[in-house]
Amino acid sequence: MADVNLEVAGRQVGDALAGRAARPIVRSFSDELTHTATHVVHDPATMKGAVIDSVLDFDAAAGRTATTSADTLIAYVRAAGIAIEWLLETHAHADHLSAAPYIQERCGGRLAIGRDIITVQNVFGKIFNVGTAFARDGTEFDRLFDDGDRFAIGEIPAIALHVPGHTPADMAYVIGDVVFTGDTLFMPDYGTARADFPGGDARELYRSIRRLLSLPDETRLFLCHDYKAPGRDAYAWETNVAAQRHGNVHAHEGISEEAFYAMRVARDATLPMPKLILPAVQVNMRAGHLPEPEANGTRYLKLPLNGL
Ligand SMILES: [Fe+2]
Repeated sequence: MADVNLEVAGRQVGDALAGRAARPIVRSFSDELTHTATHVVHDPATMKGAVIDSVLDFDAAAGRTATTSADTLIAYVRAAGIAIEWLLETHAHADHLSAAPYIQERCGGRLAIGRDIITVQNVFGKIFNVGTAFARDGTEFDRLFDDGDRFAIGEIPAIALHVPGHTPADMAYVIGDVVFTGDTLFMPDYGTARADFPGGDARELYRSIRRLLSLPDETRLFLCHDYKAPGRDAYAWETNVAAQRHGNVHAHEGISEEAFYAMRVARDATLPMPKLILPAVQVNMRAGHLPEPEANGTRYLKLPLNGL
């Protein structure tokens, strides 16, 4: 693995990734309903691992949750003998509910997201009028990562990177020679994530992408979503830095921030809100916990009218 010249707050952090030669094992699970890829990463030397961006099944029409996807993932973790140390969220997703608390109860591990989730909690706490019982200080999570925070998966060094743009709180997780990009990049033939949610910023997204693509060419990238680009019939969620730098239709090398910004703003203006944004953000801003039951024992989700 070549030297890593990644900069955090003006300092080179390549030394944090001295163990990049270590190749964690990644197993991915695809949820076709929400086009989400959930990843389980582990260190084969210690069999310690992490779950990234899990999915709680949700039938919006019926208001019914289910754990079929999470149970499949848990069965894999148990059969492989992986001890879960972390449940990592790349951001507060708008397209699916997180199953992190359900998986945490069964497999252990600490639930983490980026510190700017507090911004998202404040914005959406107001939209959902959740009142003072909802602290909006990130305490629903076990750890809030700042840019450049170091951690480990077993003996494999890892670093959390703040990559805002899609939302203000987006994180990417570098673990050995792998990066879990969250919603910054999609497959090269599909491009990039939208940047028009509250607190989103297409210019910041461009800079976050450039930062990720400053990693060595052979760095493996695992994405959070795939929508199958026109002409491609199979889902895909693994690519690498070289493929993105040379081939990403929105953000390949040579595309300027100005051109990216103009493209992203024009395209975002044509996109409808994700079908599950209101249920998903309501749950995910609470770290995947459902709202407390009312006096009759039933939990309710709100639909703010004309709130978005
Ligand atoms: Fe997202």
